[in-house]
Amino acid sequence: VVGQGYVGLPLAMRAVEVGHTVIGFDLDSTRVGRLNKGQSFVEDVENDSLKSALDSGRFFLTDDFGAVGAFDVVVVTVPTPLRESVPDLSFVEAAAKQISSSITPGATVVLESTTYPGTTRELFVPLLEKGSGLVAGVDFFVGYSPERIDPGNRTWTFTTTPKLVSGINERSLEAVSNFYSGLVDKVVPVSNCEEAELSKLLENTFRHVNIALINELAQFAHALNIDIWNTIDAASTKPFGYMRFVPGPGVGGHCLPIDPSYLSWRVSNTLGVPFRFVDLANNVNNRMPEYVVERISLMLNEMKRSVNGSNLLVLGLSYKRNSSDARESPAIDVARSLLRRGANVTAIEPFLSAVPEGMELTLKSQLSPEIVRNADLVVVLTDHDQFDYSMVASHAAAVLDTRNRMPAGANVQRL
Ligand SMILES: NC(=O)c1ccc[n+]([C@@H]2O[C@H](COP(=O)([O-])OP(=O)(O)OC[C@H]3O[C@@H](n4cnc5c(N)ncnc54)[C@H](O)[C@@H]3O)[C@@H](O)[C@H]2O)c1
Repeated sequence: VVGQGYVGLPLAMRAVEVGHTVIGFDLDSTRVGRLNKGQSFVEDVENDSLKSALDSGRFFLTDDFGAVGAFDVVVVTVPTPLRESVPDLSFVEAAAKQISSSITPGATVVLESTTYPGTTRELFVPLLEKGSGLVAGVDFFVGYSPERIDPGNRTWTFTTTPKLVSGINERSLEAVSNFYSGLVDKVVPVSNCEEAELSKLLENTFRHVNIALINELAQFAHALNIDIWNTIDAASTKPFGYMRFVPGPGVGGHCLPIDPSYLSWRVSNTLGVPFRFVDLANNVNNRMPEYVVERISLMLNEMKRSVNGSNLLVLGLSYKRNSSDARESPAIDVARSLLRRGANVTAIEPFLSAVPEGMELTLKSQLSPEIVRNADLVVVLTDHDQFDYSMVASHAAAVLDTRNRMPAGANVQRL
């Protein structure tokens, strides 16, 4: 498994569990070193399970590709970021070049990284063929299978979530299906790689657009003095034709801030037209942190205070409840903006051990009544389960709750 991140590590662990011998290869030697000591950074992978996988004698982690040798199946789970709003496939290219020389006849190569439709066939396969001197689909098999992992979700895990599988031809599809059938409860074959690539982007774009819709509506509802949360609860009683989405301080992680832009880039680059829904959703969701700052500023104003010089307590910095994942986190954008405006910011974040670079804030892992009392205003940005929200309500001068987690009270405003 090339890449031992949020996607690659759980996949590798599952493959070990079902009896495969697995090499987890990652260029990041610090990450490999920690994992080799049994220290997992992924919530869904317990340290104990990692240790037993390592003890099984069938799981090896390395940062040295020379140590990898030949394989029956290789799965690529490397990052696919944006660079200046353009898809950066350099990690996929580097991984393809690296593995190509080790491909032997009969091997199966799967790309799992999220990417725009066409990547597997147009970019990945030529690199594999060039480096191996073999013919894809004939001498070895290639497919795309998007990852749907939702870190922290106990119901829909790697094993229980249906897995889309595709191949560049029938024989490749068969090889890819056979491999994943042994790992997950249900595989869903898709006609070709492009449909599999696009379906992943459709899933993420659907969420991105719907969250943007509710984020924009939340702002209008507040201005119209209508409670958005009660409104959402009411609409959610409709048993058909409606799906519940809730507002928040913005979108974070990899899936929503980045993946839809892979799709809009492909559309505008190939067809010469903008993907307006994606552009609009980006616009609304990216503005949410500043909207939260505006609301904080208005609440302070009611207390005859300014952001500048106020003591603000921020609950949560990661982008998602009960997670340490702080990539693209809107909570960090809010905190940065408050710092820029001269606030003294203390953040309680039990899942992070260090403050993101360049942030002059005080990071603590534990909440206490004293810390809450010392703040002019508390902002709930990421609603980790371990926070004692009733205690916050009892001791805070004022609270802005962006996640609808606080008990109701005269000192609490919801987004
Ligand atoms: N995190 C999620 O919830 C999630 C869900 C579905 C899909 N995805 C997609 O899966 C892909 C990986 O995401 P992630 O969250 O696991 O990323 P990650 O950053 O956690 O892990 C990727 C790992 O790949 C390593 N790497 C980079 N280039 C390499 C190379 N050439 N050889 C070996 N290792 C290399 C990095 O060091 C890193 O450890 C992305 O395309 C992402 O969009 C992520």
